[in-house]
Amino acid sequence: TFTIAFARSGVEAEVPAGIPIIQVARACGVDIPTSCEQGVCGACLSEVLEGTPTHHDAYLNEAEQAGGKLMLPCVSRCAGKRLVLDR
Ligand code: FES
Repeated sequence: TFTIAFARSGVEAEVPAGIPIIQVARACGVDIPTSCEQGVCGACLSEVLEGTPTHHDAYLNEAEQAGGKLMLPCVSRCAGKRLVLDR
C-alpha cells in the first residue's frame, strides 16, 4: 500500500496491493489516458513529481526508468510510501 497524489487534480488516495494506479485514478475522477493497460503502449505515460517509481513496463528504456521522472501507471508502482504524478 502506498499513497498516490495527482498534483494537477488536487486528489490523493491509497493504492492497495494488487490494484493498478490507473484504477485508483478512475475511482477518483482523475483522467489518465489508457490503451493496453499492460505497460506496452505508452498511452498512460505520466511525469513523476515526487517519490520513486518501481517500473514494471516494457515501454521506457533503461535510462528513462533509472531517471525516475516518467512512469506508466497502468503497471508501475511506488518504491516508497508516496508518489506524486503530474496528473
Ligand atoms: Fe499502455 Fe499504460 S496503458 S502503457
